[in-house]
Amino acid sequence: MASQTVKTGFTLGHNYVNDLTRFLRWSHKGRQDRHAAQTEYAILKQYHGIEKGLSLKEPRPGFGQEKIKDLLVRIDTYEKDPAHKPAVVKAAIGSLLDYRTFNRTHDVSQLWLDRWLEARSSQQIEHAERDGGVEHVTRAAILEKTAGVTENFFMSRHSIRNFSGGEVPFDDIERAANIARKTPSVCNRQGPRSHCFMNASKALKLQSGNAGFGHQASRALVITSDIQAYSSVGERHQAYIDGGLYAMSIVYALHALGYGSCMLAWNQTMQKNAKARTKLGIPDNEVIIMMIAVGTLPDELVVANAYRRPVSSSLFVHPDE
Ligand SMILES: Cc1cc2nc3c(=O)[nH]c(=O)nc-3n(C[C@H](O)[C@H](O)[C@H](O)COP(=O)(O)O)c2cc1C
Repeated sequence: MASQTVKTGFTLGHNYVNDLTRFLRWSHKGRQDRHAAQTEYAILKQYHGIEKGLSLKEPRPGFGQEKIKDLLVRIDTYEKDPAHKPAVVKAAIGSLLDYRTFNRTHDVSQLWLDRWLEARSSQQIEHAERDGGVEHVTRAAILEKTAGVTENFFMSRHSIRNFSGGEVPFDDIERAANIARKTPSVCNRQGPRSHCFMNASKALKLQSGNAGFGHQASRALVITSDIQAYSSVGERHQAYIDGGLYAMSIVYALHALGYGSCMLAWNQTMQKNAKARTKLGIPDNEVIIMMIAVGTLPDELVVANAYRRPVSSSLFVHPDE
């Protein structure tokens, strides 16, 4: 018994060290200007601060100037990298334009920002106005869009372990992935990814929990998170949080599109992770979160009742005292 605990502890420690090494290798703390992808995440994080500040009830005029000056320098560096993505720069510029407009209406002049924006091409500015910054929405518009959604939508989702064998067109997978892009992520860094295996068995044969139904699935999704999106020590588990939320969105999106899906656990050792990344062509900077089997629904099927504990066992009230 004791020797088993020691053995488990040793293996666990070894795996943690592997996680640590991979986090040190790929996370962007202090290395954001080494790879375009890492700088991109740092830029997303920084301009998210502008959007966040502007979406408060009472933004403080001139907020965050020092951080925004850093952002301008970072964008200049990023743009020199041939691997940079113009869309990221445009979204950042969109936020900066809204920031300038807000400050101008509060009589805060920022010549450094004016000069930086003036040096931008008119095309960049024109596109940016659509891409980043803040938008005005109304309660009525939100309620109108959610009017058709009831508890039934959530209560009618089940893990499906009996697919009818039809094909799920890639367009619908893309539609679900497009919806899942709306999932919240830390500082809107959007670390999660979906790898869609058109031949589901290529991925599913590496996971044991789909035995008995995986062969009926049309597609397999391997959900990952890009470690490059994360930076501080406190973010060492963030890949799993963002990835889990994203996976839930994809599953609800597939449910909305009329397909069945089943999340599949990826609880693997470092060795199995490395093997799977190689076999499935998943880059080293991504961590596998889970797989999802996707298929067409039979006209009639049996689903697990999946008993839920009463809400009182997961909702705890802390009275106002
Ligand atoms: C991370 C995760 C991993 C899962 N892995 C498996 C799996 O390997 N095989 C399986 O049949 N179901 C798997 N499930 C589905 C759960 O068993 C299921 O969500 C749970 O029993 C509740 O049932 P419901 O989804 O039908 O409401 C997994 C679910 C999650 C969230």
